[in-house]
Amino acid sequence: MPDILDIITSRRTIKQFLPKFVSWENIARILDAGRHAPSCGNVQNWKFLLVYDPGKKQQLAEAAYEQYDIALASVLVVVCAEPEKAERYYGLRGERLYTVQNCAAAVQNMLLEAHSLGLGSTWIGAFDEDTLKSVCGIPEEVRPQAIVAIGYPKEIPEKPPKYPLETLVYFGSWRRKMRDPAKYMHDYATILARKAGAAQEAMREAVGKTVSAVRGLVKK
Ligand SMILES: Cc1cc2nc3c(=O)[nH]c(=O)nc-3n(C[C@H](O)[C@H](O)[C@H](O)COP(=O)(O)O)c2cc1C
Repeated sequence: MPDILDIITSRRTIKQFLPKFVSWENIARILDAGRHAPSCGNVQNWKFLLVYDPGKKQQLAEAAYEQYDIALASVLVVVCAEPEKAERYYGLRGERLYTVQNCAAAVQNMLLEAHSLGLGSTWIGAFDEDTLKSVCGIPEEVRPQAIVAIGYPKEIPEKPPKYPLETLVYFGSWRRKMRDPAKYMHDYATILARKAGAAQEAMREAVGKTVSAVRGLVKK
């Protein structure tokens, strides 16, 4: 089984798709990954609306500010939020923040499962919400959060640059960087292994010096 980190790091946003049908079995697995995402208080306030019809996919591509390439995806999954369900338990924070985070977690799960199945996917966040709602008959109280385009990739793009960890991580307080994170984390195994490595290196150097000194004496 591949490490999940390999799946996470090798996933790419796919911009172009082959005109090839993705099996229902694979789509079902991707949706299943979505429904297993974490959500605030496990409210699972999402719905996944599938669009297969070519004419409707074209309309969604138009609603997504003319991102026509997604019309060639095998299926478009409109991930919709039901904010009222989260608002009931968590007030404004539930409605505005947790709802968005819940759906984002579901979307990411879907992208990763699609990738692990050898499929390509795109997270589409740029679309006109009202147009999308009217094309898909989505009621007033429901908010589409993302369109997930799924299909066979035409090409795999280069990995875009990602910031290195050391520029993103602070320790304990804002902007506090550590020269030695292992010490901060009380990771004694790493510290001892490092010390043992340094001792071995010093030993090798000393032995090397002694050997050359002895050779010098023997020559004389
Ligand atoms: C909230 C959100 C909205 C996005 N909207 C779009 C979009 O409308 N169209 C698109 O082509 N990509 C969209 N993307 C994909 C990003 O462009 C992509 O993740 C980014 O360039 C990094 O590439 P990677 O996914 O291959 O690492 C979106 C991603 C996120 C998280």
